[in-house]
Amino acid sequence: MNVLGHFTSFQKSRVEEELLIAVHSLEAPESLKESMLYSLKAGGKRIRPLLLLAVMETFGKSTDEGLKTAAALEMIHTYSLIHDDLPSMDDDDLRRGMPTNHKVFGEAVAILSGDALLTKSFEMVADSTFDNQSKIRIISMLAKAAGAEGMVGGQIADIEGENAALSLEQLESVHKRKTGRLLEFAAVAGGVISGLEEAELNKLRLFAEHIGLAFQIRDDILDIEGNENEIGKPVGSDEGRHKSTYPAILGMEKAKQKLNDHLLQARELLFELHHEPALLLELTELIGSRKN
Ligand code: IPE
Ligand code: IPE
Ligand code: MG
Ligand code: MG
Ligand code: MG
Repeated sequence: MNVLGHFTSFQKSRVEEELLIAVHSLEAPESLKESMLYSLKAGGKRIRPLLLLAVMETFGKSTDEGLKTAAALEMIHTYSLIHDDLPSMDDDDLRRGMPTNHKVFGEAVAILSGDALLTKSFEMVADSTFDNQSKIRIISMLAKAAGAEGMVGGQIADIEGENAALSLEQLESVHKRKTGRLLEFAAVAGGVISGLEEAELNKLRLFAEHIGLAFQIRDDILDIEGNENEIGKPVGSDEGRHKSTYPAILGMEKAKQKLNDHLLQARELLFELHHEPALLLELTELIGSRKN
């Protein structure tokens, strides 16, 4: 097994455990907990928490202190997917290889379990054990990354781009926000918890910006070329909703070229870090070539 393989299997199981404990221990209606757990346990790749923890590992820190923030980030991501699949949004029936949350629990519960995951995530960060100053910074960063200036703003721009011809610049701005900001948060939060200097945090931020764009371009490509069984969500959803995507605007070949350009730039930034980047390099490769 490669470096990343060992790291991933160990850290993934720790994140899973953290997520399960967080929801099981809630004093909340069982139907709500069941719906939250359904989507959390559906088998996401956990790329965002893994990136946060991989940054900590790269800088020689124990990942223990980052675990709750990593799980919190996965909660926000999972909430975003529950809402993204709703009939009023992408109207998808399949997610992570299972019927979407609203198909099983109804729209009201799906919306509320998304709300509950979002709010719980901030409690998780607040309950972490690292220093209070970093905690406040991370809570503020997370709110910004997930909210109107970040993912939510990107989701709005994505919806407004349906049936419209976006320019490449406009599409890049959508992708940076709807997908990029959470990945950027993952990398920078890992750095903040590790106590890194601003110059190093800035390199991580730039690295993650390229990773974020690469990740969403790959998602757009998989929506066309992917296998439904592998990606666990419907193929052709974007075309069905007349979404502006990289392949739609550039054509498939140029979209793949753009993906490779971003991976290259991400790799170059990793070599500027003052630590051995092997783990983050492997994660970068995985993002570019992922099949699901
Ligand atoms: C899907 O994210 C939504 C995007 C932002 C492209 P992932 O591809 O990380 O989904 P899971 O968590 O593995 O299901
Ligand atoms: C979703 O993008 C990004 C989110 C913030 C949820 P997509 O709509 O392309 O994600 P998938 O393809 O449904 O996973
Ligand atoms: Mg969407
Ligand atoms: Mg979608
Ligand atoms: Mg997609």
